[in-house]
Amino acid sequence: MASNGRQILAGKRGIIFGALNESSLAWHIAEAVYRERGRFLLSNAPVVERAKTLGKLAEKTESRIVWADASNSKALGNVISEATDEFGSLDFIVHSIGMGLNVRKNRPYEDLNYEWYHKTLDISAMSLHRIVHAALEADAMNEGSSIVALSYIGAQRTFSKYSEMGDAKALLESIVRSFGYRLGKKGIRINTISQSPTRTTAGVGIKGFDALFDYTQRIAPLGNADAESCADYTVAMLSDLTRMVTMQTLFHDGGFSMMGMSDQFMADLESAFS
Ligand SMILES: NC(=O)c1ccc[n+]([C@@H]2O[C@H](COP(=O)([O-])OP(=O)(O)OC[C@H]3O[C@@H](n4cnc5c(N)ncnc54)[C@H](O)[C@@H]3O)[C@@H](O)[C@H]2O)c1
Repeated sequence: MASNGRQILAGKRGIIFGALNESSLAWHIAEAVYRERGRFLLSNAPVVERAKTLGKLAEKTESRIVWADASNSKALGNVISEATDEFGSLDFIVHSIGMGLNVRKNRPYEDLNYEWYHKTLDISAMSLHRIVHAALEADAMNEGSSIVALSYIGAQRTFSKYSEMGDAKALLESIVRSFGYRLGKKGIRINTISQSPTRTTAGVGIKGFDALFDYTQRIAPLGNADAESCADYTVAMLSDLTRMVTMQTLFHDGGFSMMGMSDQFMADLESAFS
């Protein structure tokens, strides 16, 4: 059950990258942050403007949209400057951006198109570096501010169809650790939330998503974490209640990451192979 709204982000201002449509993790995050009285700019790739989906969220959360491609440092710098023009300085940034070009185009890991691979790493991981770099250059982040990026356990373990995205998430989490040390000196924290498989546009774009979703659902003691609970966890990570947490990969997966085998899955296997 979602939080009723305790206003734990009252007075906090930031940027949320990556809301595409109502299924997006960032869409749920924006609604939850707004519910908790946080205020923000929304940003997404210029190509999303044509889909005209984001206006609804902007209206609902009283937010402006600033379009920027996540692989374009200048455009990201502009997002930061628009946000500081509006809010003065910032208390949070949410990075919820991912794109696997080889995955989308069905190129297997053994035969990656390297231009696409480069773009995948750029959009899905280096973009976090670009955003944090732009925020630091503009001296935009307040002491005590929090940066959260969305990740997946494919960073640590091989899920065959996750392919190049596993590499992108490993890089993303490494950037979080490398920057975490440096940001800590300024009183800024940065973490990834490693989320369960969730039915979003990016999620279902991974081949075999339904099988993966069912598998983790059967293994995780609490079942898969949905987008709404991910949004609540993100709110907690943006709030002062988690002010001493930084550089972490925080598994938000119903316990999946700590499991080996569950009774349910064992029974399923036994009946499948008997
Ligand atoms: N859905 C899942 O199963 C799952 C699980 C764990 C982590 N994640 C991560 O959560 C994040 C959000 O994904 P989602 O599942 O909500 O899907 P989504 O498709 O709703 O969100 C992905 C976002 O990335 C944006 N994006 C792609 N290319 C871009 C570019 N060049 N510039 C700017 N933005 C760009 C898209 O427009 C979209 O808004 C991603 O990092 C994803 O890898 C998803």
